Amino acid sequence: MIIKEATFVKSVTKISQCPTPDKREVAFIGRSNVGKSSLINMLCNNRKLAKTSSTPGKTQTINHFLINKSWYLVDLPGYGYAKVGKALRQSFENFISSYIINRENLDCLFVLIDSRHEPREIDMEFIRWCGEKEIPIALVMTKTDKLKPSELETNIKNYQDTMHRDWEELPPMFITSAETKEGKEELIEYIGNIVEPSNDFADEE
Ligand code: GTP
Ligand code: MG
Repeated sequence: MIIKEATFVKSVTKISQCPTPDKREVAFIGRSNVGKSSLINMLCNNRKLAKTSSTPGKTQTINHFLINKSWYLVDLPGYGYAKVGKALRQSFENFISSYIINRENLDCLFVLIDSRHEPREIDMEFIRWCGEKEIPIALVMTKTDKLKPSELETNIKNYQDTMHRDWEELPPMFITSAETKEGKEELIEYIGNIVEPSNDFADEE
């Protein structure tokens, strides 16, 4: 798949305001500041599409982008944003979890993880929650340009080992950098198979 066109559709604070679920959809989630908006811009070749910031908590709404006039790419707010009070954080997380559970056209949730760190409980907890809710996920390691190859390898292995404590089979994992565009082709190809399922069998009818 090639991303030819990406347009911003809308930014919402209520699930009921999301676009009609009549197209396939994939969404990006992860801790605040992990690089969700930057990765969306990298995939779409447009630095201005999704708003990014070095300050965590930039994306506070659900943002739909229409790609190739045919499917939605969704930028979600980050979880675990420490600066807001507990009550606000709770209502915010309810908002995101309700989107994830109820959005009927959501085909895959990409969980972004900062490749620089040791496995973090908040990410493991979130991934476990997705497992319980049977949400199809894929993992995306971000900001790999900030690490030496050997450090990256160690950190990835740590994540895989930690997840193997919970699961025998792990979700697919992508290794990416919004800076160097590492992983771009692989990720786009994987998303393509989800949003543009092949018509291989169509001729056989
Ligand atoms: P929230 O919307 O606040 O949840 O954050 P986010 O996950 O959307 O992160 P965002 O894309 O805004 O990026 C956060 C910061 O990390 C910005 O300063 C980006 O420039 C930086 N960043 C994102 N991806 C990369 C990357 O691959 N490499 C490097 N070096 N920096 C990155
Ligand atoms: Mg963002």
